[in-house]
Amino acid sequence: MQTPEASSPSSAAPTPRVLSGIQPTADSFHLGNYLGALRQWVALQETHESFYCVVDLHAITVEHDPALLRRRTKVAAAQLLAMGVDPERSALFVQSHVPEHTELAWVLGCLTGFGEAGRMTQFKDKSAKQGTSGTSVGLFTYPILQAADILLYTPEPGEGERVFHVPVGEDQRQHLELTRTLAQRFNHRFGETFTPPEAFIPEGAAKITDLQEPTAKMSKSASSPQGILDVLEEPGPMRKKIMRAVTDTGTEVRYDEEEKAGVTNLLRIFSALEGTSIADLEGRYEGSGYGQFKKDLAQVVLDTFGPIRERTLELLDDEKHLDSILARGAERASAVATRTMDTVRERVGFVGRGH
Ligand code: TYM
Repeated sequence: MQTPEASSPSSAAPTPRVLSGIQPTADSFHLGNYLGALRQWVALQETHESFYCVVDLHAITVEHDPALLRRRTKVAAAQLLAMGVDPERSALFVQSHVPEHTELAWVLGCLTGFGEAGRMTQFKDKSAKQGTSGTSVGLFTYPILQAADILLYTPEPGEGERVFHVPVGEDQRQHLELTRTLAQRFNHRFGETFTPPEAFIPEGAAKITDLQEPTAKMSKSASSPQGILDVLEEPGPMRKKIMRAVTDTGTEVRYDEEEKAGVTNLLRIFSALEGTSIADLEGRYEGSGYGQFKKDLAQVVLDTFGPIRERTLELLDDEKHLDSILARGAERASAVATRTMDTVRERVGFVGRGH
């Protein structure tokens, strides 16, 4: 994993800031979300002023069921808390509770070229799958809303530059690039306002792949249930999925992206969860075949997700408490978002009320 800069407590540099978001579009987060992003969210709280949101506005860019969205938003928040997002240290909030997200998205949309938005590969992939008639304008402007999510929390100028990190998996790199471009474009046209954010992408676990189709990303929208390891999965099915993960006809536990994509994905997962190097794992399983390797990996996954699952269920038993955490998070987020939006309105040339 990359190490955050300016993290030493003795350093005079101002506290860096972190913002990230996740969609509540499934009944559970999956292992790709956890290793690609969420683990870093928890770690970065130690060194950063942190803002984390459940992006429910993004979740309606595809057809959805309102009751399910409501439920999944709560389940998402509960999982984040269960993983270790600490509401005392981080502002954990629901995106739609802070209306400045949509307001800034409008302004940034007016700075985004049509062709520029059309080049986003996630949009191209999703719209190709759904066909033009099933593709909403919201899906097209999705990355602009994401840029607004991030730039609203731009660090205020302190003494010196404040680092601004966005922990995400590899699939978000292009959206982060667009965000940087829009920050720079806004600054160029209207004066220094936004700190361009830096993507914080883990080495090794930035793209966890599907257990059944190891060259494709593990993804709630694309993968079959057999290819996904859900954080909230029951132990029995979880073990089965790992034991049935696609490998190859050989027996050697060896890292080789070209020839052994399945084994390589499992090695990456094992290494990231246990904190053991790939080379050490190759050594440990030399000559032992895939069975023992998968059995041990299943145990490591269960040891990680078991406590998160239990804690999530406990948190969901007390919805009032959960709601109050989210309300407090939204208040803290709003304090920053309204300040940024005041500056943006002024810079863009909107007349203030009462002026
Ligand atoms: P989302 O909700 O699809 O995924 C949440 C996070 O999980 C990462 N991820 C993965 N990492 C490694 N391997 C995988 N197979 C894998 N699948 C998902 C994603 O990269 C992401 O970090 N557009 C974002 C949500 C968003 C956002 C934001 C993120 C909205 N606003 C502002 C950061 C900042 C998305 O769809 O993530």
